[in-house]
Amino acid sequence: EAEATLSITVVGASGDLAKKKIFPALFALFYEDFLPENFIVFGYARTRMNDVELRNIISQTLTCRIDKRENCADKMEQFLKRCYYHSGQYNSEEHFAELDCKLKEKEGGGLSNRLFYLSIPPNIFVDVAKCASSKASSISGWTRVIVEKPFGRDLESSSELTRHLKQYLREDQIFRIDHYLGKELVENLSVLRFSNLVFEPLWSRNYIRNVQFIFSEDFGTEGRGGYFDNYGIIRDIMQNHLLQILALFAMETPVSLDAEDIRNEKVKVLRSMRPIQLEDVITGQYKGHSKGAKSYPGYLDDPTVPKGSITPTFAAAALFINNARWDGVPFLMKAGKALHTKRAEIRVQFRHVPGNLYKRNFGTDLDKATNELVLRLQPDEAIYLKINNKVPGLGMRLDRSDLNLLYRARYTGEIPDAYERLLLDAIEGERRLFIRSDELDAAWALFTPLLKELEEKKIAPELYPYGSRGPVGAHYLAAKHNVRWGDLT
Ligand code: BG6
Repeated sequence: EAEATLSITVVGASGDLAKKKIFPALFALFYEDFLPENFIVFGYARTRMNDVELRNIISQTLTCRIDKRENCADKMEQFLKRCYYHSGQYNSEEHFAELDCKLKEKEGGGLSNRLFYLSIPPNIFVDVAKCASSKASSISGWTRVIVEKPFGRDLESSSELTRHLKQYLREDQIFRIDHYLGKELVENLSVLRFSNLVFEPLWSRNYIRNVQFIFSEDFGTEGRGGYFDNYGIIRDIMQNHLLQILALFAMETPVSLDAEDIRNEKVKVLRSMRPIQLEDVITGQYKGHSKGAKSYPGYLDDPTVPKGSITPTFAAAALFINNARWDGVPFLMKAGKALHTKRAEIRVQFRHVPGNLYKRNFGTDLDKATNELVLRLQPDEAIYLKINNKVPGLGMRLDRSDLNLLYRARYTGEIPDAYERLLLDAIEGERRLFIRSDELDAAWALFTPLLKELEEKKIAPELYPYGSRGPVGAHYLAAKHNVRWGDLT
């Protein structure tokens, strides 16, 4: 039996995400032989272009981990031969019917599966879903659609989007991407926890004092201010990326590794979260700053940002899970743009050793003796555990040092980009890393009241200089919950 043809249509092919992430990820999958023998890639957008022009764009903007490999150029040539372009409107059934004809022609009439990647603004998701499903669905095989945030701005608009999409697509055809779930260390979180005896038994309020989810970028919203100002950092990073990681971190053991079992557990955690209190949140916005001869623009200096905007570019929050495992344990989140460093990590701070015999060696600051497990998602993936150790010698001096698993030192292979993992999973119909609609609802239900309150009360963000460590308010918030940020100590 002949293998089905796979047609991948990137809708919004001339956009940034397509150029930076989707085409490079598809090429990497092709290079590594993960795409089926018969595959074709179509770019679809309004821009008038022909196949050759699309191929030029793909090859010129293609930067990925494969770049330096031998025969990359040959492989690229083979890949580009499978890439085509069709220009059309996003709400035109007629134009999608034309696309369908072209797809059929290239597919050659056999069994075919079709994947659509909607790399377009969400206000046209529904138009495209409608046209693609009615005019360009596969007749012989499956049709799947990948969408990516923003899924609305709050619970209401997100549910409405879901309702509209479901007029044209079944839930099992919709693949909602949160690209943080495709990151290597996020996938490893469950492996680490569930397949090591030394971790899972400690994974509760009995041994864990607090957990921190930290995201920082060392650049501002340059060029994306228009998009960003409508969302802010809470919607851009916390409600999705950090909350997804929190859910994976805190969920109960799933019945199996099956997608539904895992997502059932994640939803349960999300629905067990205590409503977020305004006093458990602080927000910030970066301001211009000069260092020596160099000056860095503030958020409000971005011409695409409305004057006087109070949209936060930084936020920190303390969240709690009302269940037996996590009762009373602060889950802290911190996310910010234009900070001093680019990093994403999970930090788990353990409780003090009861009746620690070596207490006096730590002076009055027992926090210095806290064990801490760190998963550094990026850059430079690593897992390390801070432990107390005797400094060799005749005295009795203790030192907090690291058991360190540095990926770069331990593994020779490259770490695939998140989009490679997620595209491959969508092709294979593996839904584990995609967001189910009830998960999305639960995530919005948690953050919507807070966002409304911040906006209604017009809470002004605390200003922090570009390139700094963020507003001091974040320290007070942590201190209030008896926590110190692990990344700053
Ligand atoms: C996106 C946000 O979802 O994630 C961006 O919209 C952010 O604002 C980006 O820069 C960060 O992703 P990564 O993979 O570079 O950490």
